[in-house]
Amino acid sequence: MSQLLERVDMKRVMTILLTLAAFTGVAPSWSQVKEIELPEDVSELRPSELPGYDIALKKCGICHSANYVSYQPPGKDQQQWTAEMTKMQHSYGAPLNENEIQLIGAYLAVAYGSANATDESVVSLSRAYEREAAAAGQDDIDVETLLNGNACLGCHGIEKDIVGPAFVKIAERYKNDADAQAKVSVSIRNGGSGKWGAMAMPAMSSLKEAEAEALATFVLNTAKK
Ligand code: HEC
Ligand code: HEC
Repeated sequence: MSQLLERVDMKRVMTILLTLAAFTGVAPSWSQVKEIELPEDVSELRPSELPGYDIALKKCGICHSANYVSYQPPGKDQQQWTAEMTKMQHSYGAPLNENEIQLIGAYLAVAYGSANATDESVVSLSRAYEREAAAAGQDDIDVETLLNGNACLGCHGIEKDIVGPAFVKIAERYKNDADAQAKVSVSIRNGGSGKWGAMAMPAMSSLKEAEAEALATFVLNTAKK
């Protein structure tokens, strides 16, 4: 791979050398060549961690290249970029819903404009997006089927200890732990011992991560009822 990249770069360098030679009529010295900075590749959208980037990758190449974005004047703010996306949808028929317009607007304002990834108006959009994605992932999962299919209720009562601790006790213990969701979904998949008593819980490794998370949500919510 690195060899391939080197070859590509050499090809570029040769092209520059030949172009220069053609223009000046002489082969350039090495110091001249080093001065040349290749322009940024504007045919691709600038990568970003923001969710709007992935959506833009899917939806913005349908009608035109990313050049249209790159050639916009710099320094546009989030509102201006969002308005631009509204126009893309209303006037040109880009297939975007209101949420996607907001997310792409935020991404473009950070990647090409005056916004920062840490701006509250950007961060809050990403958070809402992640919450929705997590909820959608848990939507198809039927917690009751999982509880029955994995013998959870053979070892745990909702309110009663059996082999393992009652779910309400578990919820109570993790009540003030900000990482409860993550910790408990890991222990559901990995099993464990020593946290509650002498009995061990077998690993439930056939559970998918999202299923373990849904079960953790269920267990941690039992205290509130
Ligand atoms: C359904 C087709 C379509 C899609 C999808 C689309 N655009 Fe456009 N876009 C256009 C048209 C048409 C123009 C105007 C072209 C012109 O003026 O020559 C345009 C122009 C632009 C411009 C230049 C500014 C302007 O207002 O003319 C930007 C920036 C832009 N698009 C960004 C995007 C981004 C980002 C996306 C992804 C969300 C996107 N476009 C998706 C059709 C589309
Ligand atoms: C064979 C009995 C058994 C089965 C089946 C079982 N558990 Fe457990 N579980 C236990 C025991 C015993 C503990 C206490 C382990 C310890 O002390 O660390 C426990 C602990 C837990 C905890 C607390 C973990 C922690 O980090 O504090 C949760 C949550 C839990 N189980 C959920 C489940 C769910 C959900 C299922 C079904 C997918 C399940 N258990 C199936 C026996 C079982």
